Amino acid sequence: TYEELYEKNRRYLWNPFTQMKEYLADEPVIIESGYGCRLRDVKGNEYWDGVSSVWLNIHGHQVPELDAAIREQLNSIAHSTLLGMGNVPAILLAEKLVTIVPRGLGKVFYSDSGAEAVEIALKMAFQYWKNRGVDGKTTFVTMREAYHGDTVGAVSVGSIDLFHQVYAPLLFPSLKIPFPNPYRNPYGESVEDVVNGSLRAVEEVFQKQGDQIAAMIVEPVQGAGGMVPMPSGYLRELRNLCSAYHILLIVDEVATGFGRTGKMFACEHDGITPDILAVAKGITGGYLPVAATLTTDEIYDAFYADYHEFKTLYHGHSYTGNQLGCAVALENLKLFEQRNLVAEVEQKAAELHHYLDPIRSLSHVGDVRQSGFMVGIELVADKATKQPFPLQQRTGVRVARRCRELGMLLRPLTDVMVFMPPLAAKLEELKDMTSILYQAIAEVTEDHQTRVA
Ligand code: LLP
Repeated sequence: TYEELYEKNRRYLWNPFTQMKEYLADEPVIIESGYGCRLRDVKGNEYWDGVSSVWLNIHGHQVPELDAAIREQLNSIAHSTLLGMGNVPAILLAEKLVTIVPRGLGKVFYSDSGAEAVEIALKMAFQYWKNRGVDGKTTFVTMREAYHGDTVGAVSVGSIDLFHQVYAPLLFPSLKIPFPNPYRNPYGESVEDVVNGSLRAVEEVFQKQGDQIAAMIVEPVQGAGGMVPMPSGYLRELRNLCSAYHILLIVDEVATGFGRTGKMFACEHDGITPDILAVAKGITGGYLPVAATLTTDEIYDAFYADYHEFKTLYHGHSYTGNQLGCAVALENLKLFEQRNLVAEVEQKAAELHHYLDPIRSLSHVGDVRQSGFMVGIELVADKATKQPFPLQQRTGVRVARRCRELGMLLRPLTDVMVFMPPLAAKLEELKDMTSILYQAIAEVTEDHQTRVA
């Protein structure tokens, strides 16, 4: 029963990224099953999966083809190591990934989570310069409010004070550039101002310290930092700057990859190829933990040497290249093609834009940002001045709590409501989800107004 499970959760389970005191006080949802875009808890309540189970679900839950791919693989083997040997689905998936990522990324290095894919990207970039005999390129450039995962290397290139400050003494230093955010723009009024201002800041750092910089790491849409898409063309300018100053460009597409922004990869919006690409989340359709760090043959070749040169990439996790995970990833990518899903997301996203209009007009909605099926709704105390709500009011949490009562599960980022439905969500489903969101925001922020008045 719910009570028994709740009690065992309280006694034995420490949930990730969760204040357990708050979680346990608020009748936590305990999920039992899911189907399509719906989740069902042990009490029998049903909800929309409004954030794709932390941004990763693609075709929905209990997808017959994906379920079958795992069962089929089980007839052969569940897992054997990829350290020093190969396996069938891992090799076939690597081939497939190379054909769908931006052109020029010829090699796939697996791991099991987005944070690990980032760790590997950092180590690869760092060691690349060492292996080539270039000294001193040991620093990383990142963006303010960046989020690349929760392991210590990934946190070192992270920049969200609330999450990262406490670990500061553990971290290696990185150089931080303002993210081009048109809504909170330190450089002026227009999108052009923020783009030029931020690029100038990047170039200044590159000019001064370029010979100490191994790589710059970026998210094409800043995710946990508040769902802020890079303005169009910005990433291409970064690509040019990185090339000009001999700095590797690492693009973290853990959140944006696999159709989320209306292209297979967000890099395609600007037509660029990074030196290193990190992917995870949607790679298995949201089924199993698989991640990958892709890179160019040029970087791979800097590690390819006789053993005694000690140029090996000394990194590998026990479960890396897991057969069940790779098998379901292959089937996921097959479904993408069969269903022409990326084009479909692009079309549905245009409709979704209209469904968000009523939300845009609410008096405490400061900004609605959207890239495909990646939406952030920033709630503010004052729309004219963009003044945030006081943190302790927990406005985002209260809106999410109201959404839950109305039948949708969301996880906000402070006062940015994250809305990231499964890519398979149909138009009428999106309509229902956005109307829940509208009602919850309207009610909760009105409450606030009346309380103040
Ligand atoms: N890189 C990006 C751009 C991500 O958005 C994430 C996770 C990762 C890397 C790490 O991937 P993972 O290790 O989780 O597979 N902690 C916040 C937001 C989490 C969003 C997940 N993104 C929260 O508590 O809601």
